[in-house]
Amino acid sequence: MVKTVYWEDDQLYLLDQSRLPAEISYQKCVTVEEVAEAIRNLVVRGAPLIGVVAAYGVALAARNYRGHQEELAEYLEKALELLSGTRPTAVNLFQALKRMRQVWHENQALLPDQLAAVLLQEARAIFTEDVAANQAIGRYGADLFQDQVRILTICNAGALATCGYGTALGVVRSCFEQGKLMNVYACETRPVLQGARLTAWELYQDSIPVTLITDGMAGALMQAGEVDGVMVGADRITANGDTANKIGTYSLAVLSRYHQIPFYVAAPMSTIDFSLACGQQIPIEYRDPDEVRTVMGTPITVSNIDVHNPAFDVTPHYLIDAIITEKGVARPPYSETLAELNRI
Ligand code: MRU
Repeated sequence: MVKTVYWEDDQLYLLDQSRLPAEISYQKCVTVEEVAEAIRNLVVRGAPLIGVVAAYGVALAARNYRGHQEELAEYLEKALELLSGTRPTAVNLFQALKRMRQVWHENQALLPDQLAAVLLQEARAIFTEDVAANQAIGRYGADLFQDQVRILTICNAGALATCGYGTALGVVRSCFEQGKLMNVYACETRPVLQGARLTAWELYQDSIPVTLITDGMAGALMQAGEVDGVMVGADRITANGDTANKIGTYSLAVLSRYHQIPFYVAAPMSTIDFSLACGQQIPIEYRDPDEVRTVMGTPITVSNIDVHNPAFDVTPHYLIDAIITEKGVARPPYSETLAELNRI
């Protein structure tokens, strides 16, 4: 699988996901402003990846600092603020920035160059931990399935959304490695088409069997008995298990319950926001109406038609059969089981 992000010669390289699958190209970021713009414009996306890229952005800001030691604090605070203002829903962004701020505060006595090195080390640690977490999620998640399973997913919660292996697609990968995956149904995921452009491409690259469907086809497929389980990622999970994920996820959860198909969420512990009691408190990102008025830049409707474009929805905890983390599988009641996992 291609790398989503790497650091070389004091510069950050991001796989430009807005161009996939037509083109595999890397965007070079030399300033923190460029990193923030890349997150905002979906050059990089997916909750864990946004977090790690923002962490590298802080390291990049520190590396670029040329002023006096006394003004470094104000400068770094501005960089952290800029990055935290890019996308509001995925909590991994804020968790990663919190970690970076803490490392900075613990090392305030260091010279800017030394501090930059320590911050880079922390960003690399977040990267490495993410891959390990996804592999563990994959192992726990695969245990939930029997033989010859058909899994439906939405958006991209794969290697492309993380530092490698993926969360929901980590479970898919693990099932595939164990020889028990029959097929993946990938919802195309309007308006930005992460399912068609990214998930279908990512699985195809790894020779994992995948069938692309439009979002409206999921119900009929379930009705026909073609789906054994739904596996999705998450952008933020609250203490009671309510889960924000790509718009369309909630519809899949309702359909799954109606058809008695298990509905699972796969996410690292860093996606759980224990400071929020329930899903109504999650800030939902609203994006440019032109994303809906166009498909891949081509207009498909009246140019100024009124549009509703939330990027995420919230699935209530009672529609979720299990939440799979790197520490194990949580089952309802989530307010207890997620807290238990957090204590491990
Ligand atoms: O708008 P995106 O592409 O950043 O949305 C991504 C998702 O909704 C993913 O399912 C989620 O971040 C989990 S990624 C492992």
